[in-house]
Amino acid sequence: MNEKQRLESKQVQQSTSSAKQEKDYSQYFQTVYMPPSLKDARRRGREEVKYHKDFEIPDEFLGMGQGRKFYIRTYGCQMNEHDTEVMAGIFMELGYEHTDSVEDADVILLNTCAIRENAENKVFGELGHLKPLKLEKPDLLIGVCGCMSQEESVVNRILEKHQFVDMIFGTHNIHRLPNILNEAYLSKEMVVEVWSKEGDIIENLPKVRMGKIKAWVNIMYGCDKFCTYCIVPYTRGKERSRRPEDIIQEVRHLAAQGYKEITLLGQNVNAYGKDFDDIEYGLGDLMDELRKIDIPRIRFTTSHPRDFDDRLIEVLAKKGNMMEHIHLPVQSGSSDILKIMGRVYNREQYLELVRKIKAAIPDVSLSTDIIVGFPNETDEQFEETLSLYKEVGFETAYTFIYSPREGTPAAKMKDNVSMEVKKERLQRLNKLVNELSAEAMKKYEGQIVEVLVEGESKTNPDVLAGYTRKNKLVNFKGPKSAIGKLVNVKITEAKTWTLDGVMVEEREAAEVN
Ligand code: 5AD
Ligand code: SF4
Repeated sequence: MNEKQRLESKQVQQSTSSAKQEKDYSQYFQTVYMPPSLKDARRRGREEVKYHKDFEIPDEFLGMGQGRKFYIRTYGCQMNEHDTEVMAGIFMELGYEHTDSVEDADVILLNTCAIRENAENKVFGELGHLKPLKLEKPDLLIGVCGCMSQEESVVNRILEKHQFVDMIFGTHNIHRLPNILNEAYLSKEMVVEVWSKEGDIIENLPKVRMGKIKAWVNIMYGCDKFCTYCIVPYTRGKERSRRPEDIIQEVRHLAAQGYKEITLLGQNVNAYGKDFDDIEYGLGDLMDELRKIDIPRIRFTTSHPRDFDDRLIEVLAKKGNMMEHIHLPVQSGSSDILKIMGRVYNREQYLELVRKIKAAIPDVSLSTDIIVGFPNETDEQFEETLSLYKEVGFETAYTFIYSPREGTPAAKMKDNVSMEVKKERLQRLNKLVNELSAEAMKKYEGQIVEVLVEGESKTNPDVLAGYTRKNKLVNFKGPKSAIGKLVNVKITEAKTWTLDGVMVEEREAAEVN
């Protein structure tokens, strides 16, 4: 009997229907086997989202981590980084200590990303590296969580090829970490607990924030856009917004603790509030409230052009602690490709949105995400992406070769574009991105910009580093006492991606650059 069959024979509950995925099976103190289903994840029901503020670690688990250390490796986006902060919070409440060293750890978690194949390959590579450690230290617990856990193909591959893994749990099961750890300690079998359908919103999960200057704040979970290439709506569930009062309270609290910058997080932040049926309230309204909080900088990510409305533009134009940088993924400059991608806007509508934003915020800095080599993309369609890039005048971009994700509609499309052509297109696009970035950076030479100082530069401890309002990394000479503060820096030299400068003075946000 192989590991998978053994697990199946021990299974206590199958994920056949989402309604059955209730939380009350913590009573079972035997191996849990609840694998994911992309099919279930695709369903969007109308059931009401409940908000809980009563999360508590059951008494019997307190002290579980005494004398033990945890290590979490995070892949992927800021949402994952923030989930790691929550898991770290739970570990600490259980009595574990944090460690930065894999060798030193008693529990290792890989918080994974499923967005492209190479993100997944990295995780499988890492699992390969961890195997000898597990053989050496049989008491070590190794867990896989995050977006990859939501895919049945991944879970099956781990069950078949990486049987030394002790636990797999999903993005909707993070609050179940104490129970999952407990199961893993008690059981010789792999614990697999992945709810395919999102749960409610739990407000009071503990968090250990990684920094003291900048903080992430979730404003919503999930995505209902279902772009045809994207796995995220399956791995993160339906759109669920946190209540404005909870977000405002969290940001106020962070401001009082001395945080200087907040980034609001969501897979599609512009859909914030669309799921409320008792109030008409959107991202613009939320930002207008947050604007009044005494905190120097507020950002948000990621935007979807379709839901980016005039109210938000109007609020962003008020500046102050609203940053004049917007990350606005376009994905392609071709209306035909955008249609097949299911982006629900065309080239003209995107350009119109950019015109509106620039009219309201003339010094705005725009960045974007682009996918090249979508199935059957023609040379002409790719050229349209290049021309749109120039027309908008993006200052920077994240560029990707399309990666088929099993279970998404695009993965079933026949593709006549060879990998060679895709790579060549990526190179051409990157050349343009570099050129325009260098041009945009050059304009800063001689200017004085506001920098939030984060610490010493990673490459040179004699130099400080921080970001401008437009999210440009600046390396500059200045006193260590400036760390954590907003300072004025005169830019002496622009590189392609970063700026060099000298500190002029400390400031509490004067003129804006
Ligand atoms: N292949 C390549 N890139 C992708 N992205 C999302 N899904 C895929 C995929 N299947 C890119 C998009 C998105 C960014 C986070 O990742 O550009 O905006
Ligand atoms: Fe990766 Fe998307 Fe999951 Fe973030 S939400 S970890 S980008 S798959």
